[in-house]
Amino acid sequence: MADLHDRWVAERRNEYYYKLAKKLNYRSRASFKLIQIDNRFGIFKAGDAVVDLGACPGGWLQVAQERTWPNGKVIGVDLRYIKPLEGVETFVGDITEDSTMLELLRRFGGKADVVISDMAPNIMGHYATDHARSINLCMYAVDVCDRILKKEGKLVMKVFMGDMFESLRSELERRFQSVKVHSPAASRDTSSEVYVICQGFYAKTNVKLRKPKVDEKKPEFTVKGGFI
Ligand SMILES: C[S@@+](CC[C@H](N)C(=O)[O-])C[C@H]1O[C@@H](n2cnc3c(N)ncnc32)[C@H](O)[C@@H]1O
Repeated sequence: MADLHDRWVAERRNEYYYKLAKKLNYRSRASFKLIQIDNRFGIFKAGDAVVDLGACPGGWLQVAQERTWPNGKVIGVDLRYIKPLEGVETFVGDITEDSTMLELLRRFGGKADVVISDMAPNIMGHYATDHARSINLCMYAVDVCDRILKKEGKLVMKVFMGDMFESLRSELERRFQSVKVHSPAASRDTSSEVYVICQGFYAKTNVKLRKPKVDEKKPEFTVKGGFI
């Protein structure tokens, strides 16, 4: 009975944020999760350079753009095509592919202040599988940080909670001064999704960084650290 009630509350909440997103011209209700995270943890500042992983349809891109204005630089990548958003660069790619990583480094052409990742696997409904796939995507986001994030930079990342979370947390704690788990009010109550808020990137992980090969046809690096 409690389950049914919880689901009912969650659905009303989703509907509330869905309508609010429409009203405020955000592309997704996920925007409110990032707004709430930023309000609480102070992620963005004017002029920041931001990389958004799993950015489609673009709700987080909009928030990142607003909150780094003026002079912010925002780039987004997703498996799916993102409808153009003025002032923001986007491209289609799979972040688990070497070619996408190279394309991101090429297009961005500098270091980022913030990496945000709302990436989620296709939900199978099998808890352990969904969790494992989510952790895998998170490790790719960590890999992006190792390549692109400035010293003192920040990472905000979605993860589906489960027993592999502690291994992810230790990878993060090797790299960031502060690692916090947070569930913004706009997040669905019934899902296992949480956000990890990482601040103070050391930019000197003792994991040996692989160098992306220049030859696009045959990229050689693979993702490091405890991959599934
Ligand atoms: C919850 S949606 C992101 C919503 C977005 N933050 C917004 O506010 O509009 C998750 C996205 O992750 C993307 N994704 C999943 N795996 C990915 C991968 N390997 N590379 C790039 N994007 C991926 C999916 O295509 C999906 O669009």
